[in-house]
Amino acid sequence: MRSSRSLSGVKLGTYYVVHIPEPDDFDFWRERARGLIQCDVPPDRIAWVEPGGSGDLFAHGKRRMPVPPKDGPPVRANRRFVSLARNAALHSDPERFALLYRLLWRLQANPRIMEDKADLDVRKLEELDKNVRRDSHKMHAFVRFRLVEDEEGAEHYVAWFEPDHHILRANAGFFMRRFSNMRWSILTPRGSLHWDGETVAEGPPADRSDAPSGDPTEDLWRSYYASIFNPARLKIGAMLKEMPKKYWKNMPEAALIPDLVAGAQKRESAMVEKGTLEFEERPEALAAIDKAIHACCKCPIGQLDNHAVMGEGPQDAALMIVGEQPGDQEDQQGRPFVGPAGQLLDTHLEKVGIDRRAAYVTNTVKHFKYVQRGKRRIHQSPGAKEIDTCRWWIESERAIVQPKLILAMGASAARGMLGKTVSITKVRGEPIALEDGSELWVTAHPSYLLRLDGPAREEQARLFDTDLAAVKERLEELAG
Ligand code: URA
Repeated sequence: MRSSRSLSGVKLGTYYVVHIPEPDDFDFWRERARGLIQCDVPPDRIAWVEPGGSGDLFAHGKRRMPVPPKDGPPVRANRRFVSLARNAALHSDPERFALLYRLLWRLQANPRIMEDKADLDVRKLEELDKNVRRDSHKMHAFVRFRLVEDEEGAEHYVAWFEPDHHILRANAGFFMRRFSNMRWSILTPRGSLHWDGETVAEGPPADRSDAPSGDPTEDLWRSYYASIFNPARLKIGAMLKEMPKKYWKNMPEAALIPDLVAGAQKRESAMVEKGTLEFEERPEALAAIDKAIHACCKCPIGQLDNHAVMGEGPQDAALMIVGEQPGDQEDQQGRPFVGPAGQLLDTHLEKVGIDRRAAYVTNTVKHFKYVQRGKRRIHQSPGAKEIDTCRWWIESERAIVQPKLILAMGASAARGMLGKTVSITKVRGEPIALEDGSELWVTAHPSYLLRLDGPAREEQARLFDTDLAAVKERLEELAG
């Protein structure tokens, strides 16, 4: 095991400072990282410094690069790691090279680490990779060239773009292939690219004022966009996600968007009010729902910085347990009821003898609604419209799982199942017959218990147990 090998070459308080020559130079990082791994240099002994970054902090005790032994141990890195790392290296996070090395170091002792979805380093790497891919996607979609004439009167197309990450060089090939017959330049605050029809040259960072800001071809773009824009199919959230406002200023067609959206939004609100909001076809598999909810932005909650959380459990479960919406923990872990409310639920289920693993556990609203306060994300209850919009998904899950009994916990879950608001105290403890022959049981939400203490908590816990025990008994009858 690596930890039992000698740490030769590393003294306490000694740092190796690696200056990365270009912020996107993955190959350089890789070569240095290999050598350092072979010399057994642990992550906390290395400062990875990119251009513009400072290595001075580490000047004290800094050492020359160690020379890897000729017959040094092979460095292990599986394909998944390398492909994510290559992308993540383009991220603007100054800690990215340190993260890559830490993971590479850990991979030597545990080659399966990349399969661990809960590992914080792996999750971070995936996040960086995702951000970079998204930034490249935006660049492919939103670079808009403007026609200018150079001094000799020749046509030259110039675009201004503001990437979030160091993606310019990595995307040169895309634009060379796509616009091979044009002479073009892409100017960005991180550097520029110039194509003369045969070779691509790199140039220094540019300023927005270096790029032209409008030409006659823009009218063409505008009329084209207005003609293909179909308000009935508008998904505002998805559109804003796909076409963030920061790119609008460079896109001639964007001037039309506010008016087009305003009209479509009105129509959509009217449809929600009438309950006629239409979705695409109902998914026929849980995996399809999972995929679809991740793209769903039908209500404002889906437009926050959160992740959809799919239900989990056996597809043929007799019991479906429905909560309100994922919380902060659930959002981060991608699983329902894993945070404090989930732990309390588990305790009570266990107490009455309901096996959670045999139930299908899900939420009526698929995304976490919150307000940001400093570093904390504070839970917000979903509104009736949001619940009603999200009902499509819980109904789709229900149509596939076909539970005999549904336990709705809390008012939001009850509304999600019934389409109307009911009082928990009035309906709890008795089955409500649903049109497909299944039964709905309503009880309090475990996070309600968490907000109480003393005798009030004890009383609510007792009522909760009574409801759960009744559900268990009914499940046994239905099974028999
Ligand atoms: N509260 C819920 O309603 N659902 C969860 O998944 C977690 C907390």
